[in-house]
Amino acid sequence: MNNITEMPVRDKVLTHLPSSKPGIINSARRLIRKIPWWAGQHSFFVDLGTHKCIVGHDDIEGINTSQEIKNQIFFDEPSLAIAESIGSNKIIAIGKEAREKIRRGVDSRQILRPVIDGVVFDEKVAQAIMEYALRLQDGESSRKIPTLITGVPVNTSPTLRKALRDVAIRSGAVEVFIVEQPVLAAIGAGINLRENNSHIVIDSGGGTTNYALITEQGVIQKAVDTIGGDTYDKAFGDYVKQVLKANVNSVELQDLKVRMCTDENADTKEYTVPGKNNDGEHIDVKIKVDALDTAIAPHLEELGRTARRFTMAIPESFSGDIRRNGIIFTGNSSLIRGLPTVFADSTGLPMAIVPNPRYAVASGMEQLFHDRDLLQQLALKD
Ligand SMILES: Nc1ncnc2c1ncn2[C@@H]1O[C@H](COP(=O)(O)OP(=O)(O)OP(=O)(O)O)[C@@H](O)[C@H]1O
Ligand SMILES: [Mg+2]
Repeated sequence: MNNITEMPVRDKVLTHLPSSKPGIINSARRLIRKIPWWAGQHSFFVDLGTHKCIVGHDDIEGINTSQEIKNQIFFDEPSLAIAESIGSNKIIAIGKEAREKIRRGVDSRQILRPVIDGVVFDEKVAQAIMEYALRLQDGESSRKIPTLITGVPVNTSPTLRKALRDVAIRSGAVEVFIVEQPVLAAIGAGINLRENNSHIVIDSGGGTTNYALITEQGVIQKAVDTIGGDTYDKAFGDYVKQVLKANVNSVELQDLKVRMCTDENADTKEYTVPGKNNDGEHIDVKIKVDALDTAIAPHLEELGRTARRFTMAIPESFSGDIRRNGIIFTGNSSLIRGLPTVFADSTGLPMAIVPNPRYAVASGMEQLFHDRDLLQQLALKD
């Protein structure tokens, strides 16, 4: 399920600090900024995840942190499509619309997902979503995107990276840069990769949890677990079916999981969702948070075991940095209940979840538009 890979350190050490921008350039940038993004030749970033697809454009005015990045994002929707019928190639809904159709009930065989476990699973669907997101579907297919930055989980094979690159090129990208997601997440979390320092970044999303030891020399140790939000959703659904003897729509259940993870009073509440009992009658299903906690516990424990192996494999020369910097969490599944406790118990290290973990990767990509040297160095070569 997971493996820890020691990486040869990059031969190029990043030494140059980003230069400050002269005032005259800033004024020019502010002027250009008045032109709407879609009227010019903007570069785009794409975070095509297991759960969501985010597409944004570069900001000519300045660097965006994960809190500010939303201004640059023009597409932020579920990574989903619905086929017209079972086995059909025709897509009838994408993104939010597709999720609403699932809530209202479609055959699960009509649900198309471009990315499973963090990697491109269906190139045609990935292409359709990217084209839709890039607004190319209305006869604008001749628009060229000078630069497109996108991310992949650690340990993605060159074949899958090629699939993603091809999708990007067919969507109009001239130059495509692919960077490992934890590196992007680290930049988005505000880590300066030019500083002589080391950090453990754990990006936990819909399909994967990526572990990376990141230094000024790049990712020097990495691991991946195919455990994420999808795993919790499935475990929660199975629990509701087997223990509570009820069937609840997958979208309702996913929304309930998020409510339970964001509600401060979740421990004392009983939640009600619509569903059916085993006899097929429509009922109010009553669910307490213990159901979620029990269902996901084995998966969190597995993540904790990987985290322990991962941190123990880090050489002692990094001990000072690691103990000082602790673990930085990004990705929306880092908000799952109980995760900080499991990781603190298994590693003994301090930890922090970045503000807006959903946008850390996007923010990292946007920041790289402003540092082409770093982008060139971090981009995977094949
Ligand atoms: N507040 C929350 N608490 C717990 N889980 C959440 C919360 N908000 C969203 N999630 C879950 O986070 C997951 C999506 O995370 P994210 O958006 O980082 O994934 P992704 O980037 O699409 O996936 P991946 O990087 O694995 O390909 C979903 O399973 C979603 O249900
Ligand atoms: Mg992600």
